[in-house]
Amino acid sequence: MRLVTFSWAYEGEEVFLCGSWSDWKNLLLLRKVSGREETIFSAVVSLEPGIYLYKYFVDGEWKIDKNALAVFQQNGEICNCLCNPDSLVQEDALLQTLPTREKVCSSSDKPELPARLGNPISPRPGHRNAFAAGEGRMAVIMVGLPARGKSFISAKVARYLKWLGYETNVFNVGAYRRKRLGSYHQHDFFRSDNPEGVKIRLELCRHALDDLLSFLSSGGHVGILDATNHTRPRRRFIVDYLKGYKEGHVKLMFVEVICDMASIIDRNIQLKAHNSADYTEVDPKFAEEDFRERLKHYEKSYETITEKQLSFFKLFNVGERTVTNRIQGILPTRIVYYLMNLHIVPRPLYFSLQENTYSKTSPDVENKTSLSSKGSMAEFMSSSQLPRAALDPAEHLSVWCSPEADAVEIAQKIPHVELVSWKALEEIDMGECAGMSAEEFKACRPRDFKQMQMDPLHYRFPGIGGESYSDLIARLEPVIIELERQRSPVLVIAHKSVLQCLLAYFMNMEPVTIPSVNIPLHQIIKVEPANDGLNLEHFPLKFC
Ligand code: SIN
Repeated sequence: MRLVTFSWAYEGEEVFLCGSWSDWKNLLLLRKVSGREETIFSAVVSLEPGIYLYKYFVDGEWKIDKNALAVFQQNGEICNCLCNPDSLVQEDALLQTLPTREKVCSSSDKPELPARLGNPISPRPGHRNAFAAGEGRMAVIMVGLPARGKSFISAKVARYLKWLGYETNVFNVGAYRRKRLGSYHQHDFFRSDNPEGVKIRLELCRHALDDLLSFLSSGGHVGILDATNHTRPRRRFIVDYLKGYKEGHVKLMFVEVICDMASIIDRNIQLKAHNSADYTEVDPKFAEEDFRERLKHYEKSYETITEKQLSFFKLFNVGERTVTNRIQGILPTRIVYYLMNLHIVPRPLYFSLQENTYSKTSPDVENKTSLSSKGSMAEFMSSSQLPRAALDPAEHLSVWCSPEADAVEIAQKIPHVELVSWKALEEIDMGECAGMSAEEFKACRPRDFKQMQMDPLHYRFPGIGGESYSDLIARLEPVIIELERQRSPVLVIAHKSVLQCLLAYFMNMEPVTIPSVNIPLHQIIKVEPANDGLNLEHFPLKFC
């Protein structure tokens, strides 16, 4: 037995701990210890040797500690994971989990968790190598009329930056209003000649900016202010407010979303009327009328950005035309590069595991053997077993793979209109450990093995060319941009580590969970980016 201390050092009033050691049945209340600077909740638990999963229950919401080892389970949930260091079985058990750690949780261990986890509130540094020296903290200020897609773009930029390793949060002023004042506000509240409404909205903007600055102070890299910010005085207020930040310079960039396409605006209005948190209790027809009135109020006072002294990027009709002004530096340029390639044309993306090297870092040798004995992946992919709905060549399919001969051979057999072989899609480079199985790696490199267990995202394989997962993410950045840019279906055939990184982007996963993302063998994973998230489907590839 060993006493293990669990601590929650983030925000919260009442914090419980729940774990697989008690079959997820008991919630243990953590003791609150308030210091001068921070409050910590902690508890000591006596544990038998073994591997355990756990979560915190903070003020009624399940959360994980982003700074502790986390694993991704089959059901899509994320839990923290602990290896009792006294465990005699620890290494063997860990080895079994490499790299698909969800195996440490049997189905009977599964907690009954809510479908969505909240984010831990305090930000933590992302990938160590993401932020270039001298880049400074940054605020992205959205500008634009309601129903133009600002929140959609804010969420996408946040997802992209988080994936690259920048700690990013969106601060939505509408959410502050709903939290402080309740959800429904009749359209008059948004009139520019309603002094009370104007005052309250400015106050809410200030609250959001305060939180954005605290986020930057506590280690966040990029804060996105999602609001209309549609007048010159409002933008001047924001610039001045951020100038007052005591803890250094905050780089500022405005992103204006302009759209005059009636089809997009109407669709967004419909989405607002039916799904917006502003109109939950309201009849959709009435909601639509009210929202159209609200829009008119904003249109009356709307001033597009013309302030030449500001750093801004204007996006017209989701990429039809763009304007950049005073955009400099790695991070702003990256955001612009990303936004210039975005569009909202629906198209499916398919991902499938390239079988030949799957077992390099996987214990799944049996699967590999059975696959090899029954025919190659190439034969398999071109067989009639492929679900037609998933891969209809009439849909102008592009097939992307690495330049390896095996991969190209597989890809060539699939009906396609275009074949792209990308060096960027090569498997993670294991440096001088290339070709080792997990068992060999553990036996020959016990210290490296331990380091990899401690920090699978940043562990870099030794020797020339050796990479870490976070290096791999950097290598895959252009692939993500190209996938975003495509308007017709794409099938990506790649190795496990590559698919883990790509899927983590589309599924908006915490980077720390990437090495644990489960990529099933013999399946095609279909991802369809949608307005409010994405649709995910798995098509099993059956053997003859
Ligand atoms: C809101 O209250 O919904 C947003 C306020 C604003 O950005 O004008």
